[in-house]
Amino acid sequence: MAILLDGFSLAQKVRSELKDKIASLNSTPSLAVILVGDDPASQVYVGGKEKAAAEVGINSIVKHLSKNISEGELLNEIKLLNEAQSVDGILVQLPLPDGIDVHKIISAIDPKKDVDGFHPINAGLLSIGKPSLIPCTPKGIMRLLSEYSLEISGKNAVVIGRSNIVGKPISQLLLAANATVTVCHSKTANLSQAAKNADILIAAIGRPRYVKAEFIKEGAVVVDVGMNRLEGKLCGDVDFESVSPLASAITPVPKGVGPMTIAMLLENTCEAHVSRKTIWS
Ligand code: GUN
Repeated sequence: MAILLDGFSLAQKVRSELKDKIASLNSTPSLAVILVGDDPASQVYVGGKEKAAAEVGINSIVKHLSKNISEGELLNEIKLLNEAQSVDGILVQLPLPDGIDVHKIISAIDPKKDVDGFHPINAGLLSIGKPSLIPCTPKGIMRLLSEYSLEISGKNAVVIGRSNIVGKPISQLLLAANATVTVCHSKTANLSQAAKNADILIAAIGRPRYVKAEFIKEGAVVVDVGMNRLEGKLCGDVDFESVSPLASAITPVPKGVGPMTIAMLLENTCEAHVSRKTIWS
């Protein structure tokens, strides 16, 4: 039976260490979250981020804007937050309503305040092996693998999914850690065969229980990034029941990658705060 990679407990540990660190600073990090529209899932995620920030001593403000906001008005909100000395981190919750150019919005955030790590400058720095602010979910996955001392160097890592939020940045981080990385996606031929080559399999495809036993090499480490609702229940991209007997280690859903994402957001906010303070002084 596989070892369960307990993201919930590790996230608690990270948060408790951050709380101590923040208490030792003589200033308070602050995070601004922009939520546009009424997407229920986004509201839950933003609420979770707000609560977690408060628990470690980060000031957070949530700007809840109408779904009818224009791109220009949203860009103006970002400009104000970029200029605000008291704001260290800016996060625009995705997805945004149709008609708003996500790339334009993300590119407008000051890269030093881009705690999501999505700005083209931060994505570029990651891709040349000079990471600054690293996207939270991939950073959380790497921390989880490291906490359980799982070897990456020389291993075959297969990433299913090529999003800018998870698939691409986790591929870069695994490559930087000397894995041989294959990126698969919805158009990949023989995806299950490619996955079966993986010593480390990252499932970030957004389809409930898509990864089945026939995708798994015996002894693989399986990381499930999925957050899907199926028959009213939260489930991942991995069919846990059939996959876990084959894997050597696996993340559960919930309490796997999800809590690590939030912990890394808090860490990034703290990092942005400290590096901005260092620049001022
Ligand atoms: N929507 C889903 N995941 C994320 C994330 O990590 N950051 C932001 N800003 N929006 C998201």
